[in-house]
Amino acid sequence: MSRAAETQRPAVVGSAPQGTHDTHSASRAVREMFTSIAPRYDLLNHLLSFNIDRLWWRRTARTFAQILDEPQCRILDLCCGTGDMTFALRKRAGKHSPQILGADFSHAMLQRARSKSLEKVGANEKAAMPRWIEADALSLPFPDQHFNLVTSAFGFRNLADYDAGLREIVRVLRPGGECGILDFSEPRGLMGRLYRIYFKQVLPRVGTMISGVSGPYSYLPNSVERFPEPEEMLERMRRAGFRDANWTPYTFGIAGLYRGKK
Ligand SMILES: C[S@@+](CC[C@H](N)C(=O)[O-])C[C@H]1O[C@@H](n2cnc3c(N)ncnc32)[C@H](O)[C@@H]1O
Repeated sequence: MSRAAETQRPAVVGSAPQGTHDTHSASRAVREMFTSIAPRYDLLNHLLSFNIDRLWWRRTARTFAQILDEPQCRILDLCCGTGDMTFALRKRAGKHSPQILGADFSHAMLQRARSKSLEKVGANEKAAMPRWIEADALSLPFPDQHFNLVTSAFGFRNLADYDAGLREIVRVLRPGGECGILDFSEPRGLMGRLYRIYFKQVLPRVGTMISGVSGPYSYLPNSVERFPEPEEMLERMRRAGFRDANWTPYTFGIAGLYRGKK
C-alpha cells in the first residue's frame, strides 16, 4: 500500500484477514487459518525462515534470563501455537522450575505443542513440562496480576484488536512484571526490497504449495504490512500502561522484540 493510501485508511485496530468486517469475524478467520495449517506449521516455519526463527526464540528467551531464573515465577507464552517459544523459555530456565504456560485459541496448534512436550522436555522432567491452555488472548482466563512475564512470538500481530490485547497483558501481569512481543517488521533500504520480494512473491507460493492451503501464506505478508511500525506500536504499549517500552530489531529488522514493564 502506498503511503498516500495508508494515510487515508482508518486507524488499524488489529488483524483483518480478507473478507472479515469486525473483530469477531477476524478472530474466527485467524483461528480457522492456523487450524488449517497446523499439521505443516513447523516444517513450513523452519523452511521459510531458513531456521532463523530458532535463533529469534532463543534470543528472546535469553533476554528474560533474569526472570526465568526465579524459581517461583509464573510465565505465560501467549499465542504459543505449536510451542517453540514456550520450549525456548523452558530450556533457558534450565534446572529452575518456574511455572510456564502456553496459551492459544487453536486446538489443533495446541495439540501439536502437547505432543512435542515429551520430545522437547524429556519424560523424567514431567514436573517441568509447560502446561497448555486453550484461551483467547483478548479475554484471558487468568486473574489480575498473576504473571511475572508474558511473551508472544509471531502471534500478537494476528490479534483482532491490538490495544485490547495489550490491555489484557497488562491486566494479567504483576506490578514490575515484563512483557516481550516478538514479531515481524518491515526492514528498510536494500534489505527491505529483497525482503519484500521474498515475502510477497516467493513465500506465499512455497507456503501454499507445501501446506496445500491457499489463504494463510498470502495473509502473512499482508498482516506484516498492516502491523504498526515500531514507533506506533511503542506508543500503543505506553498508552496501555507499559513503562520503559522499547524495541530491539533482530536480523536487519526482519523481526524485533518489543519489551515493556508494568
Ligand atoms: C504465527 S503463529 C505463532 C506460533 C508460535 N508462537 C511461534 O512462534 O511459532 C500465531 C498463533 O497465534 C494464535 N492466535 C492468534 N490470535 C489469537 C488469539 N486471539 N488468542 C489466542 N491465540 C491466538 C494462532 O492460533 C497461532 O497459533
